[in-house]
Amino acid sequence: MHFSASLFTAASLLANTVACLPGVLPRGSSDTTSSSSPTPSNLALFQQLVLVPSSVDRFNILTDADLLFSFNDSSAHPIGSPGVSTGQGGQLVRADQSTFPALYMQHGAMALGFIGPCGFNTPHVHPRANELFLVFEGRLNTSTMLENGGRQIHNMVNTLQMTIFPQGSVHMQFNPDCTPAMFVASFTGSDPGLAQIAQEFFGFSEEEVNAAVGGPVMVDGADVDGFRSKIPPNVAQGVESCLTKCGIKKK
Ligand SMILES: *[C@@H]1O[C@H](CO)[C@@H](O)[C@H](O)[C@H]1NC(C)=O
Ligand SMILES: *[C@@H]1O[C@H](CO)[C@@H](O)[C@H](O)[C@H]1NC(C)=O
Repeated sequence: MHFSASLFTAASLLANTVACLPGVLPRGSSDTTSSSSPTPSNLALFQQLVLVPSSVDRFNILTDADLLFSFNDSSAHPIGSPGVSTGQGGQLVRADQSTFPALYMQHGAMALGFIGPCGFNTPHVHPRANELFLVFEGRLNTSTMLENGGRQIHNMVNTLQMTIFPQGSVHMQFNPDCTPAMFVASFTGSDPGLAQIAQEFFGFSEEEVNAAVGGPVMVDGADVDGFRSKIPPNVAQGVESCLTKCGIKKK
């Protein structure tokens, strides 16, 4: 709270300073008198949304098009752009406040997952939101690990079924079939965050990783320093038995 309060103070000072500059017009307007709360147009949309004092002002600087997010528009969300995770096993596209600024202060976010045959949405955590997870094509086998002392939860989520991944839990999903699966995930916050467990854990030094598990960790004959960069990006290809069943060559 301290952080956002001081950020807001700094941002307000900046807004007042910039708004006084000649030739700075509200976004989408050619007339400074048309807005009750002028916002400097030379700032990014997200910065403008943070600066204005009310929700009404926020919607006044958002165009109708700013309120539309097309998950299926690959030109708007190319591979490698923020909010897009692409691996050998599929793709995730996430609308949060950084990729869809209209979500700022709306207390929600959403992701769509396109999981190929055997595709594996690798173990991860959302540090700042609960997740509702609905499968709308195919089925996905889900596992959740709660906090220390909590239990493991397993569910096969079929088409048009839904499950919950609590905030901070480690969870994963896996397509056990040779046909694609798709899901929609909604979050109880506009900045849910995402931390991939393997990348984070094996990002520690080899000595630390080995000490944490009580012995040297080897993958395909490589030590931690050797395999760290080879951890597959999400969405990964999936388990060996499924790849064999579906005749998918491991890349
Ligand atoms: C995908 O997005 C475009 C806009 O980018 C839209 O016109 C179209 O209807 C959408 N749906 C499909 C299935 O392509
Ligand atoms: C789904 O996951 C559970 C628990 O991990 C496992 O026992 C089961 O065999 C899996 N089912 C399929 C079809 O992969």
